[in-house]
Amino acid sequence: MRRENLNYIIGLITFLGACSGDETIDGFTNQEWAEIAKLSPLGDPPPDPTNRVANDPGAAALGQMLFFEKELSGPVTFDATPGEGALGVTGDIGRYACTSCHDPAHNFVDVRSNPVATSLGTGGWLGHNALTLVNAVYYDWTGWWGFVDTLWGHSLIGVEAGIAANGDRLRTAHLLYAKYRTQYNAVFDPDLDPALDPAAVDAARFPASGKPKAPMAPDGDWEMMAPADQALIVQIFVNTSKACNAYLRKLVKKQAPFDRYVAGETTAISSKAKEGLKLFIGKAACIKCHEGPFFSDQKFHNTGVPQEGLHVSTMDTGRDLGIILVKGPLREWSSAGANSDDTSASKVDALVADPKDMGAFRTQGLRNVAGTAPYMHTGQFADLREVIKLYNEGGKKTGFVGVVDDLIKPLNLTDPEIDALVAFLETLTGEPLPAELLTDTSVP
Ligand code: HEC
Ligand code: HEC
Repeated sequence: MRRENLNYIIGLITFLGACSGDETIDGFTNQEWAEIAKLSPLGDPPPDPTNRVANDPGAAALGQMLFFEKELSGPVTFDATPGEGALGVTGDIGRYACTSCHDPAHNFVDVRSNPVATSLGTGGWLGHNALTLVNAVYYDWTGWWGFVDTLWGHSLIGVEAGIAANGDRLRTAHLLYAKYRTQYNAVFDPDLDPALDPAAVDAARFPASGKPKAPMAPDGDWEMMAPADQALIVQIFVNTSKACNAYLRKLVKKQAPFDRYVAGETTAISSKAKEGLKLFIGKAACIKCHEGPFFSDQKFHNTGVPQEGLHVSTMDTGRDLGIILVKGPLREWSSAGANSDDTSASKVDALVADPKDMGAFRTQGLRNVAGTAPYMHTGQFADLREVIKLYNEGGKKTGFVGVVDDLIKPLNLTDPEIDALVAFLETLTGEPLPAELLTDTSVP
């Protein structure tokens, strides 16, 4: 059926809807169509006033180079068991890039760590499943806990965290000066300080590596620097992350078969998938949390996922900890902090923790979900069927902190109904990203 025809019929039925509730189009009632229409299309990413260079092409190009750049990472401090996918042994430097855990060839998820449920970084196992970065720009809060609300803030935390890349802001500034000076200076003011050149007469102003109070950094001389020089380095570090953010903003996949279906192409998805769609908005009630064109309410819920798996902590307080972090030590990297280019719309300071935040995790957007296994913050489910089986049980009763959300109840789905839901989720995969966004452009 052509789009105009379908729209015409939806309009007609809505008009007649008051007197008869029985009309159906392609098996859906008009009430159901009203729900379905809210799920498509996905609009452009929201603007990001916290990042002045969010839409700057030069910043995005620099961000892409840095995304593939291993020299951002500092020394490995953990020796994994052979076969676990480690990229170095204690003392090795420059082994981990963002791509080590967000592989562009695999929807920006980790395919290296073994087991792949959680990620192995410079300092050990991160304890959470690596998130895809495709469409990450649509989230209000980043990470499973929502521990900041800026992609640039999340990126620089990743660089400096001892367990992830163990890099630091001074190392980053020197790397930029040595390899990306032209690109950086073209986008940001002021230009990189010439004292970052190790041959400069005043090179001692900027030690080779260091971050505030970082005992693990072998030559971490941060505290000895002049405050004005510290401020310069923080600025460079934040700018670098804002460039990364400009690149991540381009990793957007929108047009999926489901969108073509809603736009009127009745054959764009299978009849099995349509059955799944009916369940998604009806009996299975997935839409209660996975709502809107991004398929996420942008909230946090306890869905009864047990803390199970080899490198998963036995206790994870989820969003409760996220709120403590974003209002405390990570506030400086959030929309509310001094590094944000616009604090006016920030929701950080108004956050108040609720008992429901205990063991709650971010509602994942479900677009492209068929390509981002394994699933949940623990990465414990290898396929979508397993995820739906957990929902079908109404979540587990024990093995996690907090209380399961009221919206999670046993669903009494039959096996064919579970298959239909999987078939529906598979129709949410968008067109592939342009190859140039997946290319390693880092300077050798
Ligand atoms: C050692 C593995 C590892 C490395 C290296 C790494 N990440 Fe991550 N990344 C993760 C994991 C695991 C998560 C999920 C973290 C969480 O929420 O607990 C994540 C989450 C994210 C998110 C949040 C996405 C969302 O949906 O909210 C962003 C953004 C991100 N990473 C960017 C980066 C960038 C940029 C780099 C390089 C500077 C990087 N990461 C390096 C493992 C890694
Ligand atoms: C109460 C809110 C809620 C309901 C209802 C709900 N979900 Fe979720 N969903 C979430 C949250 C929160 C997560 C992340 C949970 C975690 O990792 O602990 C999630 C995760 C997922 C994931 C894994 C995504 C990933 O990236 O790992 C899939 C798939 C999913 N949900 C599908 C569904 C389906 C299908 C239904 C209906 C049967 C459903 N959800 C119902 C809140 C909900």
